Amino acid sequence: MSSNSLPYLENAARHYAIQAVLNDREGNYGEAIKNYRNAIEVLNKIIQLYPDNPLNTIYKDWIKQYHKRIKDLESLRTSLLPATGSRSSESDDEDLEEFILKEKPKVTFEDVADLEHVKQAFFESIIYPTKRPDLFPLGWPRGILLFGPPGCGKTYVAAAVANEVDGYFIHVDAASIMSKWLGEAEKRVAKIFSKARDLAAASKKPVIIFIDEVDSLLSSFNAEVGGETRVRNQFLKEMDGLQDKDKTYFVYVIAATNKPWKLDDAFIRRFQKRIYIPLPNKEARLQLIKLYTKKLSLSPDVDFSRLADALDGYTASDIKDIVMTAHLRTVRELFARGSHDGVPRPITMEDFMEVLKERKPSVNKELIKVFESWDAKFKAI
Ligand SMILES: Nc1ncnc2c1ncn2[C@@H]1O[C@H](COP(=O)(O)OP(=O)(O)O)[C@@H](O)[C@H]1O
Ligand SMILES: [Mg+2]
Repeated sequence: MSSNSLPYLENAARHYAIQAVLNDREGNYGEAIKNYRNAIEVLNKIIQLYPDNPLNTIYKDWIKQYHKRIKDLESLRTSLLPATGSRSSESDDEDLEEFILKEKPKVTFEDVADLEHVKQAFFESIIYPTKRPDLFPLGWPRGILLFGPPGCGKTYVAAAVANEVDGYFIHVDAASIMSKWLGEAEKRVAKIFSKARDLAAASKKPVIIFIDEVDSLLSSFNAEVGGETRVRNQFLKEMDGLQDKDKTYFVYVIAATNKPWKLDDAFIRRFQKRIYIPLPNKEARLQLIKLYTKKLSLSPDVDFSRLADALDGYTASDIKDIVMTAHLRTVRELFARGSHDGVPRPITMEDFMEVLKERKPSVNKELIKVFESWDAKFKAI
C-alpha cells in the first residue's frame, strides 16, 4: 500500500489518535500532545490530497478538537515543565513536578476488564495497609512488578490505581529518564525517591512511583558507558530503603515491563509481588467486547461468544482497535451516502469478521510461551 493512499493515511491517523487518547487518559501528557500533533498532521494531509473525501468534514472537526485538547494539556503542563538548557540544581525540584500527576487519569478499576488478581494485589498491598497499618505487623509489599505482552493493560491498570488511591502518583517513563538525563539519570532516580518520601511524610498519604518500561533502566545507551549500572545500583538502594521497618509513611513502586527477561535477579527480588498480565482469556475477551461496544449499536446477529472465540490470541488493545475499525465501516458508509446526519447502521457480525481478516494478532504465540516460562519461574503473588 502506498504511504499516500487514503486507507494508509486513515489508518495512520487512527493509530495516532488512539494512542493520543490513551496517553491522555493515562496522564502521560507529553506523549499525548505528540500523538495528537501527529494525528492532526496526517488528517491535514488527507484533506489536502483527497479534497473530495466524504469524511473530511469529520476530520476537520477532529482536528479542531485535538488542537483544543493540546492547548489544554499544554497549559496543564507549562507550570510543571523543566527549564530547557543547562540545569541548575535549584531547578531540579521543578523538574520533578513534571512527573507528579496533577489531574487524575480518567481510568477507574471499572474500566479495566478482568485482571481481578491484579486489582486484588493492589488492594492488599496499597489500599489495606494504608488504611490499617496496624493489621500488618510484618510489613507489606512495597514493590509490584507487572509484566506481560504489550497491549494487555499494564499501563492502563496502573493509571486506574492512580485514580482509585487517595494519594500521589508519580509517573516515570524509564526510557525518557535514561535518554533525557543522560549522565545524571541516577541522580534523577535518587531525587524521585526522595521527593516521594517527602510527599508521603508531609501528607500521610500513599505515594506511588510508577515506572513504566522499567527494563530501560537497565539498558545501556552507548553514549554513556556504565551509566546503566549506576542507575541500577541507585535503584536497588532506593528500593531497599522502602523496606525499612518504618510504617509511618507509604511509598510504593509499581513497575511495568514487556521484557522481564532483561531484568537481573537482584532487581527482580526487590519486587515482592510479580504479576503476569497475560493475553485476555475467553471470559476477559467477552468483557472487553461488551465494554467497547457499550455505546455502539449492534445488529442482533452479533454473537458475543463466537466473536470472543474468533478473538483468541488478540491483545486487549487489538480488540479495542478491531471494534473501532468495525464501527468505522458503518460510519464510512453513512458519509459515503452523502448524508451528514442520521445514524450509522448497526455493526454486524460480518463487519467484525471482515476486519479480522485484515488484522492479525499483534503478539505471536512464541513470545507468549516465553512469558509463560518466565512467569513459572519468577511469579510471586
Ligand atoms: N484489561 C483491560 N480492560 C480494558 N481495556 C484494556 C485492558 N487492557 C488494555 N486495554 C486497552 O488497551 C490499551 C493498551 O493497554 P496498555 O495498558 O497500554 O498495555 P501495556 O500492557 O502495553 O501497558 C489501553 O489503553 C486500553 O484502552
Ligand atoms: Mg505500557
